[in-house]
Amino acid sequence: MCGIVGYIGERDVPSILLVGLERLSYRGYDSSGIAVLDHNELSFWKKLGKLHALSDELGKLTIKGDIGIGHTRWATHGIPSEENAHPHLGPKKKVAVVHNGIIENYLILKEKLQKQGMLFRSETDTEVISHLIEFFLKDSLEDAIRNTIKELSGAFALAIISETEPDKIIVCRKGSPLIIGIGKNENFIASDINAIIPHTKQMIHLDDNEMAIIEKNKVTIKTFNGEIVNKEVQTITWDPVAAEKSGYDHFMLKEIYEQPTVVRNIISKLLVDGKFSFNHLKLSRQELNNVNRFIIQACGTSWHAGLVMKYLLEKYARVITDVDISSEFRYRHKVNGINEIVIALSQSGETADTLACLREAKSRFYKVLSFVNSKNSSMDRESDSVIYTYAGQEIGVASTKNFIAQLVSTYIFTLYLSQIRWTLTEEEIKAKLDELKKIPDYIEKILSETEKIKKIALKYHKCKSYLFIGRGVNYPSALEGSLKLKEISYIHATGYPAGELKHGPLALIDENMPVVCIAPEAETYEKMISNIEEVRARKGKTIVIATEGNTAIHHCADDVIYIPEVSEDLTPILAAIPMQLLAYYTAINLGCDVDQPRNLAKSVTVE
Ligand code: F6R
Repeated sequence: MCGIVGYIGERDVPSILLVGLERLSYRGYDSSGIAVLDHNELSFWKKLGKLHALSDELGKLTIKGDIGIGHTRWATHGIPSEENAHPHLGPKKKVAVVHNGIIENYLILKEKLQKQGMLFRSETDTEVISHLIEFFLKDSLEDAIRNTIKELSGAFALAIISETEPDKIIVCRKGSPLIIGIGKNENFIASDINAIIPHTKQMIHLDDNEMAIIEKNKVTIKTFNGEIVNKEVQTITWDPVAAEKSGYDHFMLKEIYEQPTVVRNIISKLLVDGKFSFNHLKLSRQELNNVNRFIIQACGTSWHAGLVMKYLLEKYARVITDVDISSEFRYRHKVNGINEIVIALSQSGETADTLACLREAKSRFYKVLSFVNSKNSSMDRESDSVIYTYAGQEIGVASTKNFIAQLVSTYIFTLYLSQIRWTLTEEEIKAKLDELKKIPDYIEKILSETEKIKKIALKYHKCKSYLFIGRGVNYPSALEGSLKLKEISYIHATGYPAGELKHGPLALIDENMPVVCIAPEAETYEKMISNIEEVRARKGKTIVIATEGNTAIHHCADDVIYIPEVSEDLTPILAAIPMQLLAYYTAINLGCDVDQPRNLAKSVTVE
């Protein structure tokens, strides 16, 4: 989703901005732009499409200046175009603004400003901000921004520069992330640490309703009401090398291959000397023992992990569990019960809908436990308790290793809960953990069969549509398999509970429809076989994910992908791997941009 970067200092401003934008490009974007101030002269450049269009243009020029802001846009209001790309300027082109988020009342504001005779150059919601700032701009830029903010409803992270005060960048945050990077005789701003980490590891996280005045040697943070805020400077300990492809063609492939290491890492963090270790879990044993209901809320792939978690929490910890898609949870008229805990699952920790639900839940006195991958993200900072998923930085827009990390961390948490609630014996827990420890080797085994999956991808890549079916804990696997395929290959794909086929989707089946059937050894294996036969009877092509050693499956499968034998609860982890590879190689065969699929963003910071 949109990215912001900004710099004030003595280095080459366009280069710093372009490097930052490049490092934000994994989030997804359709256009880009920068604005630079040379003394009190403002210049700007915008381009539609990939970043090289902007860098090619800038490469032909000699640009002076020691302060600038940049943006990658992901269209919400107005088509992807040069006019709609950021920065947006005020009517007199004195002020330049970049914005992440959505201004919900922009139409009303636009109409008011148009009545004052102001002309607009774009269809965006953002342009009302630059226009309002110039409207209010008399003596102080800070005051003009403060007056502007009072008019805005919605979410925003803003960075503003002005010809009238060419020695500062002013940034504001309400609902969208913003970080300040502290340097020596220079300072940085960004919507994502990744953009500025090559330059500094000293960061300040702006909180909601805060603004910062950033000069070359000074950063002043205030609330929107003007009170000074003293904030801690944090040192980021990430290794920027992690953001390189390390010889893989795409981040997605690299991240698929990292999964055995990710699982080993989580196990070593959450199980220390054979004991559960949840350092940031602030819920007491008594609170966990007394819990009557979990309400899981998440989006996309994280929601699929939440669906798997429900099966396990109910089966082992014996706690009633609801799972909501965040954008639905927020507007559902829930009934507060006693001893209920809201669980948020999120890779980025910034997904606007999930974050909004977390805040809504807290305002309604629920305790919130979040499973997040990105440390220092808004969800990490605002949750009552956090369990990190330790997947490492995930760059590919399609989530792979974090999904596996969510499945593993929620599984370990479920066993911990079952220990506290005495719903499993110590022996049962130990046996389950011993089995979990074999998962990294099993994933490696599946990855060693990549060539076979490549062939299957090639065989079906021209099909217009796919179905994915599974039962029980592998119904969410079917949803996840179909999401992976559609988001990166643009092939229509739907996940279904296999037992539902005959209630409608069976009408879609013919000889052109590949159906991925997730059918490992499981409680409902026989039923699953009947469902596969139903597909075969209508000439559908079946790609069956089955347990190693099941030779009988060939009888009802056009293609078979084996996964090692594990208990049913762990099969979603193993079944996900071939489906990730199937999606990846299908997209490659179709020439799609795997790491940055069209219309999608890595971190969805608008509702
Ligand atoms: C799909 C995908 C998305 C995310 C969703 C939630 O591959 O990555 O569906 O899972 O946008 O994102 P997080 O987990 O960051 O809250």
